[in-house]
Formats: sequence, C-alpha cells, structure tokens
Amino acid sequence: MKGFPDTLEYTGLNAPIREEYELQGLAIDGRVPRDVEGTFFRAVPDPKFPPFMEDGGAVLSGDGMVSALRIGGGKAGFAIRYVQTERHRAEMAAGRALFGKYRNPFTDKPEATGLDRTVANTTPVWHAGRLLMTKEDGRPYRVDPHTLATAGRYDFGGKLKSETVTAHVRIDPQSGEMFLFGYEADGLASTKVAYCIVDRQGNLSREQWFDAPYCSMMHDFAITEHFVLFPIYPTTCDLARLKAGGDHWVHEMQRDSWVGVMPRYGDVAEMRWFRGPKGVSCYHMMNAFEDAQGRIQFDQCLSSVNAFPFIQRASGLNVAPANLDGRLARWSIDLQTGAGMTETTIGPPGDLPVIPAASQGRPYTHGWMLTMNQGLQGPPVAGGPVGAMFNLLLRLDFTGKPTLALALPPGQCFNEPVHVPSSAPGHEGWLLTMVDQQVGPADFEHALWIVDAANLSAGPAAKIGIPHRLRPQVHGWWVSAAELAAAR
Ligand SMILES: [Fe+2]
Repeated sequence: MKGFPDTLEYTGLNAPIREEYELQGLAIDGRVPRDVEGTFFRAVPDPKFPPFMEDGGAVLSGDGMVSALRIGGGKAGFAIRYVQTERHRAEMAAGRALFGKYRNPFTDKPEATGLDRTVANTTPVWHAGRLLMTKEDGRPYRVDPHTLATAGRYDFGGKLKSETVTAHVRIDPQSGEMFLFGYEADGLASTKVAYCIVDRQGNLSREQWFDAPYCSMMHDFAITEHFVLFPIYPTTCDLARLKAGGDHWVHEMQRDSWVGVMPRYGDVAEMRWFRGPKGVSCYHMMNAFEDAQGRIQFDQCLSSVNAFPFIQRASGLNVAPANLDGRLARWSIDLQTGAGMTETTIGPPGDLPVIPAASQGRPYTHGWMLTMNQGLQGPPVAGGPVGAMFNLLLRLDFTGKPTLALALPPGQCFNEPVHVPSSAPGHEGWLLTMVDQQVGPADFEHALWIVDAANLSAGPAAKIGIPHRLRPQVHGWWVSAAELAAAR
C-alpha cells in the first residue's frame, strides 16, 4: 500500500483497504438457517492515512470502521463505513495523519491538540435499540444501525461522567441491564475506574468511581447474578513515560494481579480485592457465575505474560507464542471465608470466547473460543492485532462431554464468531464467523461461515461470499431482524 510501511501492521491480511462500500445480492452457498435473520455488525480497524512515526500498536490505532452483513429472506448484503470520529474527521480535513503513537497524545502533531483521540474500532455494542462503536480509550460513538451513519459521540444523554467506556460490556439476560465500566476514567495513567449500570431502556441509572490498585489495561470484566468482578493484570501505564514519548503499556512480570469483587447494586466502598498470580495477562473472560456453594467462579483466557508483541517489546520481554502458557483458567473466590483465590485449568489456550447471551453471569454448560491448531502443517495466517490469526474453533463443554472442534486447512483463518440463538427447542444455535483465505502472496478471499454451534465438525451449513477485500475485525455483535425493526 503506497505510503504505508512494509511491516506486518500494514501488509498481507493487514493491508489497509481504506474504502467505504456496499454490496448487494451476495452469493450464498448452502442453506441459511431460518434462525439467522438479522445483521452481523463488525468493528474493523482500517487506517485511512499512513503513519508519520513508528508505532508497534498501529493495528489497534486504525480508524474504526463499522460493517454490517445483513441476512434475511434468502438474501445477503454487506456495507462498511468509517466511524466519523473527531480524529477521523480532523485527519480527513488535513489529508494526512495527525495522531502519533497508540494512546500517547504527547506524540501527536500540534493540530491534534485537544481532539478526541479514540478511533472507536473495537466492539459494536447493541443495547436498548442503540448501536455504539466502542474503544476503551474514549467514549463510544453512536452509529445508525440501518445506514451506518455516525450520529456523534455518545454520553447517555449527558449523564456519563467517565471520559472512557470499555469495549466489553455485560448484559444481564433477565433484567436487560447493561453493565459497563471505564478505566483511566479521568485521564491518562489514572487509577480511577467508573462502574455504570444502564437500564433496559438505555438510561444510565448509576455511575460510581473507585481506585484500582494501579493503572492497568482493564480490557474486559465479568458479572454474576449478584456481583460484579473487576480483574486487574499488570500491564501498566505511567504518565512520565508517556510524556517522554514512550509506550502506553508495559507489562510487569513481578507485579500482582487482582480481582475486585462487589455486589452488582452495591456501593464501591464494598469492593473486596483478591490477590492473583504475579505477571499474568488476560484480555477476555468467558463468563463468571455463583456456584451451588455460593462461591464465585471466574473463567478467563489467561496467559503467563501479555501476548501482544509490541507490549512485550516495550517491556523488554520476548516470549514465543508457544511459551505463553495459555489456558482457560477458572479462578474460584469464596466471599464467605475470604480465603485466597484458587485456580483450575478448565480448557486449552485460546481467546475470543463466546457464550449464549442467556448464560451471561449464570452457571453454564458450554462455550466456544478460537485457538491455534497445533497439528496444522504450516504456519498460521499472519495478520490481526497479535500478528497471527486463529485457525481452530472449539466448543468447550463443562459437564464432562468431549471438546468439539472445527479445524481450517493451512492458509485459512477465523475471525471472532458471534452466537445466534435458535428458536427450536434444544437447538444450541449457530455461530457466524468470517473466514479469511489466502489465495496468493498478497491476495485473500473472505466468506461468512454459518456453523451449527453443537456440531462444529460438520463444517459450515452455509457460506456467504464477500467479493471484496476485508481487513481482520476485532469484535462483532449479532442483532436480530426483529430487534432492528423495533429500533426503527
Ligand atoms: Fe476485546
């Protein structure tokens, strides 16, 4: 790509596309299940302008695009548009990049001073008929789910005090409330964390702030039926380092991890902190719940060190992917005894966990996640934020049944699946995942696969081809046709 560096962040599958487009009448191979009527929204980072400085976190800094794959009535269409963030609009007006390194405003061009730096590129969150494009370093941008036009920055009708909202919210399946949080809530390197509850109608009903043990990358969190959990892993930020033009994040192997636990509807003064192992890292939690004994079980895609190569470089670490010691770890917390947390391994290494929305915060029997196929002859497809794409989809069972898998051949990879529930009693629903296939040194083809969630090895029940280059997504969200119609 002209003007872009010849590095992993900008080549191959990660080559910038930089184009808004719309496609109708997509080719469908197979039969789309009746349950799959709606829109698969995806957040896709795609830098419009070449960077003016080296930035290991560049994939995470790409301008947010929102894409919609609409499926219904035996037809499918696709559209993708930039989120019109303040940052994107300023750079479009200037005709060049104005913002420097990942989450370091001290590296920006003078014209960028005071502008909102977020790129809204991480998760399209759907709640109460609103579509919000999120990234943890800023407030969300509201996007029209039908046209993908950006309405503007969203602060819940002026109620939100936090300067940030993370890209991982938790929605209670019974109350319909959305639980969310923001860290560095009042500025760079701050320990302030905002904890918010948004009711079923979308009203921000409560916002409380607390101090984390230290400023860390709090990417995700978890709820149970009665509690909320704030995990802290030692990927840390330091204001002096930022001012010196350094990296936002450094991973500290000698620092403790923590989990803060408080009643969901309680006061932050009730927060109890439980110490975890030193040096560990996690981006995504599969779920949390209260077991029959009242203990909290907290399931997370854990590793012994931060997996991002650019964060390892900034930390003076160099741990090969094979030595990350990844596992699906269950941390057990006994609030009655207050004893130390214990860890059990309940699954293999992997990330991007998915559960049925109805299982959120409740005891659950199964979930899905992506991982690397160790038996594959050949390297994984290079690309995505970490530099290597997943090629094995797993269904993990927590009742003792065997793990199920769908493996891709060399040269193909999965993006994060979304789960679509089925209306048929006893049916586990469907997984929708974009599959990228390398067909030449710099050529890729893309198709959405629709897979029976309980029968992965059968392969896709249907494939919907996208006859255009796509960049890897971060996260996605499924919204049914009925919910979209209700939001009109
Ligand atoms: Fe995430």
